[in-house]
Amino acid sequence: MPNIYVSEASAYVDQETTIRGWLYNKRSSGKIQFLLVRDGTGIIQAVIFKPEVPAEVFQHGEELTQESSLVVTGTVRKDDRAPGGYELLVKDLQIVQIAQDYPIAPKEHGVGFLMEHRHLWLRSSRQHAVLRVRAQVIKACRDYLDQQGFLLVDAPILTPAACEGTSTLFETDYFGEKAYLSQSGQLYNEAAAMAFGKVYCFGPTFRAEKSKTRRHLMEFWMIEPEAAYYTFEDLIQLEESFVSYIVQSVVAQCREELAILERDTSPLANVQPPFPRITYDQALDILHQHGKEINWGDDFGGDEETLLAEQFPKPVFVTHYPARCKAFYMQPDPDRPQVVLASDLLAPEGYGEIIGGSQRIHDLALLERRIAENNLPREAFEWYLDLRRYGSVPHSGFGMGIERVVAWICGIDHLREVIPFPRMLYRIYP
Ligand code: 4AD
Ligand code: MG
Repeated sequence: MPNIYVSEASAYVDQETTIRGWLYNKRSSGKIQFLLVRDGTGIIQAVIFKPEVPAEVFQHGEELTQESSLVVTGTVRKDDRAPGGYELLVKDLQIVQIAQDYPIAPKEHGVGFLMEHRHLWLRSSRQHAVLRVRAQVIKACRDYLDQQGFLLVDAPILTPAACEGTSTLFETDYFGEKAYLSQSGQLYNEAAAMAFGKVYCFGPTFRAEKSKTRRHLMEFWMIEPEAAYYTFEDLIQLEESFVSYIVQSVVAQCREELAILERDTSPLANVQPPFPRITYDQALDILHQHGKEINWGDDFGGDEETLLAEQFPKPVFVTHYPARCKAFYMQPDPDRPQVVLASDLLAPEGYGEIIGGSQRIHDLALLERRIAENNLPREAFEWYLDLRRYGSVPHSGFGMGIERVVAWICGIDHLREVIPFPRMLYRIYP
């Protein structure tokens, strides 16, 4: 008997096969039991008909509880009424383990309870759908950049200095010296770009964000392309084609998952280049027209981003931010040095910033000045300054938060559901 996966059932019609999995749910009526068996690739209905099996097989079926593990053998039948279109007519059934009192019953539970049981919650079909979309997003990111000739160069996680400001650093002891968990691979990416031209890094990044919002995690995954000789305009065009490719790839590859999530995909169909662009100053005008009291030089928060994004049917770029609300490494606009060649990409439907990017300062003296103005420890940045001493060129890059993008594509409110084990303010279990 071949062992098969549920996803392969269509290739085994009328053949006897074995499926190894877990009981998702069951119902019975008299002489017949319907077991919903999941194996990670899908769910198939296994039908036990009492007159056709040995007594103990029927008995095993009765003993099975939700999430018990089992090995079931039977003949695959095509049946349009069955969930998934195929069913298994059971000949044999072995119990691997009986699950006693599985805590997540097929009823409503509060999010706190589900988070506490995240290790089990991952087995539900909704969580399956979300994490499959996540895997597709990551695959699409990598496929796109690989096809465009970007080389994957990994950045370290343990670092001696800040990249995105000192207020959100996780500090750790490194054999008697202070070290920090990486907030972004960017600075190392810049070194890699000077070595390889077009590069990207992908990995977990860490922010000790003391705010408890639905858009912030302490540990999130970021994909960061960086390219030598890329201008700010090159950067924006890369971002819009990258994001469009990812969204269209998920829409095409994850139809079933998006259906399980009841995601209306019509707004996603819009996500094609070019994306609208507004400057920070234009954004400020829009915010003022909507009664927001915000001064030139202030950064935008989640509410402002939502309001701005609502004005457009596609993701929108906000460009030319005041230098003082952005990071130390951003290139000033040559025509107006108080703003920087930076852009945030805001997703529609209230999802806010999904990408932050900029052209980088390539002039040594200017970068030295910025490091000093930001009170950053110069010694820790000597290697970074070397990149401006030895063959410095204009270059640009961006970082995209995987969870923000997955939440947007799935239409899920809170980032905690789009990463397998979220690290949130006040929660590090399980
Ligand atoms: O805008 P950020 O802070 O940019 C950087 O870190 C740059 N060094 C990236 C680069 O240019 N290579 O972060 C980039 C993206 C944000 O747009 C957002 O999508 C995500 O990372 N992000 C978070 N996602 C979840 N939780 C958090 N706490 C996040 N902080 C940023
Ligand atoms: Mg940002």
